[in-house]
Amino acid sequence: MNYEILVNKYHKIPEKFNPKLTNIKTKYKEDMDNLFLEEKTYEKFLELKKEALKNNYVIEIESAYRTHEYQQKLFDNLVEEKGLEYAEKYVAKPYTSEHETGLAIDFCVFKNNKFIIEHDMANLEETKWVHKNCYKFGFILRYPKNKEDITKYNYEPWHIRYIGDIAEYLYKNNLTLEEYNNIGE
Ligand code: DAL
Ligand code: ZN
Repeated sequence: MNYEILVNKYHKIPEKFNPKLTNIKTKYKEDMDNLFLEEKTYEKFLELKKEALKNNYVIEIESAYRTHEYQQKLFDNLVEEKGLEYAEKYVAKPYTSEHETGLAIDFCVFKNNKFIIEHDMANLEETKWVHKNCYKFGFILRYPKNKEDITKYNYEPWHIRYIGDIAEYLYKNNLTLEEYNNIGE
């Protein structure tokens, strides 16, 4: 299993990429039983979640593995809602989303009896804590601020990507996966 795989607008998921998916649970979508993640990604997220809880930070999974069909639907819906230019900055086209690998998680924060997601969670202490600590569990913040020209996506404070041991190196050197692979400006 290649946990360091680069998937972006220019690097599609190879046909032979075959992650071992496991059934997951999230309080964000409590009644859904067909949610999946790559198994180590889920295991490490649960460790991260447990560590967060030690600070009374409650994080959950908002979005996990997506089929190609579902990714297409998300893209089409956003184009309809906000137009193509906006959609291309926030949602990947099918075969180019890390969510289709099972290695990406959109996390959210549960606070004051409600879930806080996407842009609304950007400045929460919980979110900042995850950004600072997720490397210890093999995750990186995949679309950071000020790296939009390189990742080709807007800042996404919610999208973390399991990448394994190199997460620490990327975090400490402030590198995106594109820069690590010597791609981008
Ligand atoms: N929001 C990210 C780019 C995705 O759709 O995979
Ligand atoms: Zn995401």
